[in-house]
Amino acid sequence: MPPEYVIIHQQVAPHVAHISLNRPKELNALNLQLMGELRDALKALDADDNVRVIVVSGNEKAFAAGADIKEMANKTAIDMFITDQFSTWDAIKKIRKPIIAAVSGFALGGGCELSMLCDMIVASETARFGQPEIKIGVMPGAGGTQRLTRAVGKALAMEMVLTGRFITAQEAMKAGLINKVVPVELYLQEAIKLASEIALLSPLAVKMAKEAVLKSFDTTLEEGLHFERKNFYLLFAAEDQKEGMQAFMDKRAPVFKGR
Ligand code: CAA
Repeated sequence: MPPEYVIIHQQVAPHVAHISLNRPKELNALNLQLMGELRDALKALDADDNVRVIVVSGNEKAFAAGADIKEMANKTAIDMFITDQFSTWDAIKKIRKPIIAAVSGFALGGGCELSMLCDMIVASETARFGQPEIKIGVMPGAGGTQRLTRAVGKALAMEMVLTGRFITAQEAMKAGLINKVVPVELYLQEAIKLASEIALLSPLAVKMAKEAVLKSFDTTLEEGLHFERKNFYLLFAAEDQKEGMQAFMDKRAPVFKGR
């Protein structure tokens, strides 16, 4: 059965796939089904040799307005424990190819957290980022207190998490949460352009570089440097390393094959 709440667009540019969240009436609220379908789509694209970079978007009005409040409202703590709804997020964290979030409109609660689970964020001028869970008697549960704090620092993270204030795309840009702000009509195009730039590079080097950058979030400097060096040395086993360095010396563009 095809997924109901995500649409997969293959090859929107060479080696670039695009997944759009598709629950527009609910502002792409992230219910269990949507997150399961997103995880499955990402895993399938991660395993597809024709795909090197993945763009995830919502629509112009909403990237995602958070976890589905209506689905969660009557759950008990034990229901939450048994369902373990954030286990899908652990699977998404393991995707090895770069994921670029193309964000327009609301990126709130789980929506903001999902954009931060991606590797880069391209936003439209209308994007609003926020962790408003505090206003409904809870708190962020999918990384909002951790990834947001690492991205924007304690002062702004505390303010957003404790008051629920939304920040604009410009403010998010200044705070270091996102990579780019563009007019609304261009946000998806710009995200695909950024993905295309990365898709021209060696997919092996890109995966290992992503892995090493993410490692810096949960390791000491010494261990992180060691990990980085191992990946760097390992890349010398790849044809792409020979091709990349030879092409530099030949003064031509390299052609990378992912081997
Ligand atoms: N869950 C379920 N449904 C949601 C939703 C959510 N997070 N966000 C919006 N919707 C639904 C609304 O209930 C509404 O449905 P109906 O038409 O059936 O009533 C529809 O989407 C449109 O929303 P609004 O009418 O509210 O649209 P608006 O433009 O007036 O307001 C908004 C937009 C400010 C985003 C507002 O919808 C809102 O505050 N949404 C909730 C945001 C939020 O609190 N997110 C955090 C959720 S908890 C979480 O994410 C936990 C975690 O860490 C993972």
